[in-house]
Amino acid sequence: MKHAPIPIRTAVAASVAALGLLAGHAGAQSMADVQKAAQARGLSTADLLAAAKTYTPSGMKDEFVIFSSGGHSGQVHVIGVPSMRLIRTIAVFTPEPWQGWGYGVGNDVLAQGNVAGKPNLWGDTHHPALSETNGDYDGEWLFINDKVNSRVAVIDLRDFETKQILKNPLTVSNHGLCVTPNTEYVVESSQYGVPFGWEYATMDKYKETHRGCVIFWKFDRKQGRIVPGESFALELPPYWQDIVDAGKLASDGFIFINSLNTELATGGVQDKKPPFEAGVSRNATDLLHIVDWKKAEAVFRAGGAKEQFGFPVIPIETSIAEGLLYLTPEPRSPHGVDVAPRGDFIVVAGKLDPHVTVYSAEKIKRAIANKTYSGSDDYGIPILEFDAVVEARVEVGLGPLHTQFGSDGYAYTSLFLDSAIARWTLGGEYGKGTPEPDWTLVHKTPVQYNVGHLGAVHGDTVNPLGRYLVSFNKWSVDRFLHPGPLLAQNFQLIDISGQGANMPVIYDMPIGFGEPHYAQIIRADLLKPWSIYPEVGWDPHKQRIDPMAPKKGMERVTREGSTVEVWMTVVRSQFNPDHVKVKQGDTVIWRMTSLERAVDAVHGFAVPGYNIAVSLEPGETVTVEFIADTPGVFPYYCSEFCSALHLEMMGYLMVEPN
Ligand code: CUA
Repeated sequence: MKHAPIPIRTAVAASVAALGLLAGHAGAQSMADVQKAAQARGLSTADLLAAAKTYTPSGMKDEFVIFSSGGHSGQVHVIGVPSMRLIRTIAVFTPEPWQGWGYGVGNDVLAQGNVAGKPNLWGDTHHPALSETNGDYDGEWLFINDKVNSRVAVIDLRDFETKQILKNPLTVSNHGLCVTPNTEYVVESSQYGVPFGWEYATMDKYKETHRGCVIFWKFDRKQGRIVPGESFALELPPYWQDIVDAGKLASDGFIFINSLNTELATGGVQDKKPPFEAGVSRNATDLLHIVDWKKAEAVFRAGGAKEQFGFPVIPIETSIAEGLLYLTPEPRSPHGVDVAPRGDFIVVAGKLDPHVTVYSAEKIKRAIANKTYSGSDDYGIPILEFDAVVEARVEVGLGPLHTQFGSDGYAYTSLFLDSAIARWTLGGEYGKGTPEPDWTLVHKTPVQYNVGHLGAVHGDTVNPLGRYLVSFNKWSVDRFLHPGPLLAQNFQLIDISGQGANMPVIYDMPIGFGEPHYAQIIRADLLKPWSIYPEVGWDPHKQRIDPMAPKKGMERVTREGSTVEVWMTVVRSQFNPDHVKVKQGDTVIWRMTSLERAVDAVHGFAVPGYNIAVSLEPGETVTVEFIADTPGVFPYYCSEFCSALHLEMMGYLMVEPN
């Protein structure tokens, strides 16, 4: 799997040329030093070339940014490409003390994600979806779903912070998330069938009682929020819906959803019934869902939805009558459904079939118009005839899962069983970009190991940029030191700038925070984050000045009955006030403003015994509320090393006993 070692002299000569060191001054360093270092570490030419492509010296910035789901961490992780350096973790569904998330910051946002009134303080983040304008990332917003509780979060990319969490009222597990081409809707597809509202039911009437759904969450860019009141759902059969991708250009107005339990298997292995793993893959094909969302929106607006658990749901009968929902056979146990850049092809991979199946948007539209049905499912939903809608089938290898697109007519499919990334050619207009014939497998690059999703630069947009692809591998086995039996996952960076068989792995990044599922890769220059908040007294939740923010010179502690308000300013290296006296049982509303205007001058506010941690970024104002129920002396301090007098940046909370 690794390149054969090459005599070091040849290797170094070639790599030094690649590194551009021959021309250079490079201080006291010389070719001989490079040779010595490479020799000492046993590096090949290929290794040195990979290093030259990825090594990012201090101060050099990355060209691209990965927004990766954090899996069980419940967060989003931000990684630079090609350096593969972790730049930031964005706290989303899980409390995170560095950002104060859940310890004084964002507690109200986290509470929006309560499930039946109960806090669920972790998430299984799966599909990040960057906001899009005309089908391409615009760098403004990021959405991420939580599979375990069926929730969706909104992240503002001006400050990389979570602004909103929504709980799907119909179901308790989801899988797919995508946006429509102008981010009109954030689309969430459910996963495991449950009765709506996850109300109690036994498995014997699964077909009648359980359901799936797709939710169209209306996004209001101006407010920076999803508006639940303008959102709606489509009732779906209780097949396990999986990935969702939005049509664009040629397929604009549609969304496509995979499903994998059209057998309606209900398990029961303890009663000697077939286990899910057998029952769910019994049929030769599953059913791709095709939803006309623009028509569905019109039906919803015309009052065609019915309230279920406080949410408008378009019933299956209405979807059939109005022509909102169609099915078509797809290879069994599918995982990926990926719309090609022009929207003309929809690529589906069934993990038990070595082919990718490519559907044509034109043919789908024609089949809908001509009612070219091969029948209907048990719920009466018309099934478009397979042969009428398929464009091509390409044999790519074992266990194909997901597909991304390059800039040059190539498509890339992850192969779970082969542990490889397949490069193959698209046909149609794309065929002009590649030297190989249309619809052919070109090359497979081995990856280590068991790849799930893959991500290319803008690889799921109307404008894929090629250059790099990342293989999100589930197993690392022998790639890293073993930190005990729970091993890191492996993100492998692949250089896809070449053609044909030229697509080497050039970097391995261990992922030790959970199992990331999907990730998107965006041009770094499309992101326009603030380095400091625009003005002092900024409320990041509302993205405007907080009129109640404490101001310099107005620091004080006020009391009204048993409510104490603290008006505190924070600046290197002082909390003002640094004495706060309250009585046991008081309600404390502690407002604090960072007066800082210097980039990276961040302060923390940590209070022992009260589970309070806050991050105050330059200009930010935060309000923390608590009951002073424990008497005593509590030294609060700045938890960021902000200055030489950081240790002195503290104060005393004194809670007088009753
Ligand atoms: Cu402020 Cu340390």
